[in-house]
Amino acid sequence: MMSSATHSVKQLLSYIDASPSPWHVIESTIDLLHQAHFQPLSETEQWRLNPGGRYYVTREDSSIIAFIVGQDLIKQGCRLLVAHTDSPGLRIKPRLAKTTDQLQRLAVEVYGGAMLATFADRDLSLAGCVAYKTKTGAIQRRLVKWSQPLLRLPTLAIHLNRAVNEEGLKFQKQQELNLILSATETQLADNYFYQLLAQQTDLSPEQILTWDLAVYDTQKGSFWGANQEFYANSQLDNLASCHAGLMALLNQKSLNSGQTLICGFFDHEEVGSESYQGAASDFLSSVLQRLIAATSDDPQAYPRMMANSWLISADMAHAYHPNFSRAYDSEHKILINQGVVIKINANQRYSSNAFSSAFFIDLCQQANVPYQFYAHVNDSPCGSTLGPILATQLGIRSVDIGNPMWAMHSVRESAGVLDHHYLINVLCQFFAYT
Ligand code: CO
Repeated sequence: MMSSATHSVKQLLSYIDASPSPWHVIESTIDLLHQAHFQPLSETEQWRLNPGGRYYVTREDSSIIAFIVGQDLIKQGCRLLVAHTDSPGLRIKPRLAKTTDQLQRLAVEVYGGAMLATFADRDLSLAGCVAYKTKTGAIQRRLVKWSQPLLRLPTLAIHLNRAVNEEGLKFQKQQELNLILSATETQLADNYFYQLLAQQTDLSPEQILTWDLAVYDTQKGSFWGANQEFYANSQLDNLASCHAGLMALLNQKSLNSGQTLICGFFDHEEVGSESYQGAASDFLSSVLQRLIAATSDDPQAYPRMMANSWLISADMAHAYHPNFSRAYDSEHKILINQGVVIKINANQRYSSNAFSSAFFIDLCQQANVPYQFYAHVNDSPCGSTLGPILATQLGIRSVDIGNPMWAMHSVRESAGVLDHHYLINVLCQFFAYT
């Protein structure tokens, strides 16, 4: 089993390496969907959908919903798998940092709950998109990415920061996070950066109006451990879940069941999901309403379909780390390579309840996949996921699950090879469930 699990993780690592920003995640996802004959839809057009048809639609090029239309949407409902495309980190501000001592530096904002010290002393670069004006005056978006290391956040030497090991590696967010880009004589910092962007996108500097740019780590994914049983990369939270969902959807060769199968991958989860394309927007509910409107004229069809549907919210979970045992509830610790995690929180930070957890346990048993329970330690606040947001907004039964990982929100996260294989298998079972 390890070799097929290793194969799945190799595919995951390539997917992440090709996807250094949420906009690139959508591009990589579309590449895989096209290979499996999914057709693009536009939100501005009228949709004609056929049973068995495979479609996808994007919003702002950073969220995507892909689906296979079932035979009977009302009676069979939908099987929905959701995950997020964004990861915490650093984003580039519109104006550069002040040029001092002939050093050009990019000014950054902290995006979400990034673990800042992990970005220091790494071979960083930039990926995202630029918004530009075409020759005919239209405004368009174009992806941009530097493959080579472009930027760096050097730490202060220990000789100038003697307490670093006692007090931790800290960065003052306004002054100390500027990224070093270049040693140059020029004082025209903003123009200089527009020129770099223009070179990288084959546009002229005058055409480029603005950008969304994320800082990423150029180090590729790797396997590690005495038996290569672990893997590491950036953005495992939550591209590992996106990849597992996508593999399960693409695995559905023929539509045996009548269910409609949907993967929804959303931007902005790490900052609360409230945006035009985030999961708290109307993007998913509007797709579901159009799905039912294209296939039924019963005015009660939509709530009946939703009442027959299931949502799985997949996001990564905190694996037990024996060096820091005090941080965990010792009876609810989850272990790497010991199976998919069902997340429980009585305060509904996770959407799982007894019934939806039982539904998921049944899937695990049918797929022969081990599972474990996670509950957060009572003394610290629990994080949340897309599950409660979408259960509330859509009116759908929901369960929160995910794979155990170490170092969540570090620029270099780790997880277990077997667990990725388990997650794909149980999601295949979810999509095959009748
Ligand atoms: Co996450």
